[in-house]
Amino acid sequence: MKHYTLHDGVAVVTLDQPSVNSLSHALRSFIVQALDAAQADAAVRAIVLAGNARAFSAGADVSELGTPRQLAEPILPTVLQRLDAAGKPVVAALAGVALGGGLELALACHARVGLDSAAVGLPEINLGLIPGAGGTQRLPRLVGVPVALEMMLGGAPRSARQLADSGLFERVVANDVVDAACAVARTLAAQGGVLPRVRDRQPEAATVAAQVAAAREQLNPRQRLQPAYAALLEAVAACALPFEQGLQRERELFLSLVSTTAAQALRYQFKAEREATRLPPQFQAEPRAVEAVAVIGAGTMGTGIAICALDAGLSVLLLEQGGQALERGTQRVHEHYAGRVAAGKMAQGAAEAAQARLKATLDWANLAGADLVIEAVFEDLAVKRDVFRRIDAHARPGTVLASNTSYLDLDAIAAATARPQDVLGLHFFSPANVMKLLEVVRGAHTAPDVLATGMALGKRLKKMPVLCGNAFGFIGNRIYNAYRKQCEFMLEDGAWPEDVDGALTAMGFAMGPFTVADLSGLDIAWRMRKAQAATRDPRERYVGILDELCEQGRLGRKSGAGYYAYPDGKQASTTDAVVRSLIEKASAQRGITRRPLDAATIQRRALLAMINEAALLMAEGVAAGASDIDVVLVQGYGFPRWEGGPVFWARQQDRSTLECELRELAAGAGPTQRVGDLALLLG
Ligand code: NAI
Repeated sequence: MKHYTLHDGVAVVTLDQPSVNSLSHALRSFIVQALDAAQADAAVRAIVLAGNARAFSAGADVSELGTPRQLAEPILPTVLQRLDAAGKPVVAALAGVALGGGLELALACHARVGLDSAAVGLPEINLGLIPGAGGTQRLPRLVGVPVALEMMLGGAPRSARQLADSGLFERVVANDVVDAACAVARTLAAQGGVLPRVRDRQPEAATVAAQVAAAREQLNPRQRLQPAYAALLEAVAACALPFEQGLQRERELFLSLVSTTAAQALRYQFKAEREATRLPPQFQAEPRAVEAVAVIGAGTMGTGIAICALDAGLSVLLLEQGGQALERGTQRVHEHYAGRVAAGKMAQGAAEAAQARLKATLDWANLAGADLVIEAVFEDLAVKRDVFRRIDAHARPGTVLASNTSYLDLDAIAAATARPQDVLGLHFFSPANVMKLLEVVRGAHTAPDVLATGMALGKRLKKMPVLCGNAFGFIGNRIYNAYRKQCEFMLEDGAWPEDVDGALTAMGFAMGPFTVADLSGLDIAWRMRKAQAATRDPRERYVGILDELCEQGRLGRKSGAGYYAYPDGKQASTTDAVVRSLIEKASAQRGITRRPLDAATIQRRALLAMINEAALLMAEGVAAGASDIDVVLVQGYGFPRWEGGPVFWARQQDRSTLECELRELAAGAGPTQRVGDLALLLG
């Protein structure tokens, strides 16, 4: 096998394994053989390691994870030792991506040259790990502790252009990266003497300690809950040690993380996300082409949806019922882009191009130009059915018709048209241009290619599309409602809102349920409760605290008070006397002697409520797979990703204990509460 081509004394070793040069056993072996051959070749003065257009290397080969090949020599550290020992200069030419082990490979070379668009990073933290092949030791030696920590704590790749002055690259070029690397390699060869190795630089101990301490201070509460963040700081602190000792420390820390629940949960989420975004075989079909989208309703959601469609390069028609609402909505879109440009997050030209694709209208006849229509008008069945009748009258045959409804019956909406096969739900989350989750809802008549179009559009909008059946609240809101109800029970049983919120944020939730309720406004739930009052089973355990708060005008943060008061706009840390007496009254009315609940009990009850509802959802076929439920909770509801999701959590528990607890929980919720079958979640 030919390992390299010679270019005027430089051996160019090209890594070219489909598709992203994952560091498989085969590729690692190839690199070692190529290095050996080039070292032995008298015609070679220097070596360039290059990738293909897509990747220098995207890092470890996931298909090898956990197999003997992953651990078979040469393992990556052995490859890097060969680079350390090389007698001829080796220069890495980076184009495409250089991530994880791929970047560690480049860091062990004598110099790096990057194409300006190359994306480099050490994303191990996203999987609950730290770099395990010298990344924590070499990167700070090259770019300094602060930048290295930013890259490793953030986990997101950066472009070579952004890092041009960081010290990572000898040169960053706009094209011909291999030629530029060859030139650098020849210069190094011509210089003679000791080759520059990153490992030979010795950072100053006191500076490293101070910089690591500063970064530790900056960790946010959610990072502090995950073992990988502390381990990363410790590994980077070890770069003040002699190199080999630092490497050893990194290795120990890396190994200590591999089997943590957090790392397992993050690996699980990664897989679950990939599975969730694929349609089950029976629904697979060729998606319909979508270039022109019409959004009906230019309110909070409509404008957010319009923005993400514009960002994805689609053309957007924004349709409203009245001129003022249309003007306000269009203005919001323009202000959004102006804000991004002002913050330096978007180039003026790109913002102008996006806005040029937006057209605002009051004329329904314009719908004829749309490939897909998304309705985001008021959450009212009669209004939505009327809107769908009008869409039906104007949209071309074959146009995909979507509703952004949160709770309403999609089939009742679809029945307002003569083409229910073209109707699906696309449930975005607020703010629609930020939140990743997209529930793709299948109605009784939705055609497979319409579902496929919804999933494809979701991906194009850079969302995480998850298939759901048509049931009240779909997956996310349905589980969230069960969770929120359980949290309300806990108020009656003896906890204060801050106890519940505090216990759940201590577990890693982005926010507790009462803070969330205050933030989104209690009146939305109040309105829904009133609408459901007539059909509510009187035997259901119903907690009326929220209704009473609303009756007192405490609608949440926007009205200055809800579960919490907001003196000076900041949430009070404890609830006030008014709320406490409301809660005490509710307990007394139910004949409950209040007893404080500790954080572990609160967390467990909240999780049990979620998994019970998850099992019920599975029984009804609302979720295609149990892991989809975890994706929804993590992506849309602030469930701590490193805990995997409620289903993952349930799988770590003792089954018979869980079954017993679920029965107890149901007993506390009144005779209407159904108990889910755990077999559907645990397998
Ligand atoms: P919004 O009240 O901010 O906006 C609704 C807009 O629809 C208004 O501008 C209104 O003028 C317009 N509209 C009403 N009837 C219309 C008609 N017949 N023709 C044309 N335009 C009409 O409401 P928001 O919050 O944007 O919600 C819209 C939909 O999105 C609802 O179904 C809601 O359940 C759903 N949703 C809302 C979320 C949220 O957090 N706000 C989250 C996920 C879904």
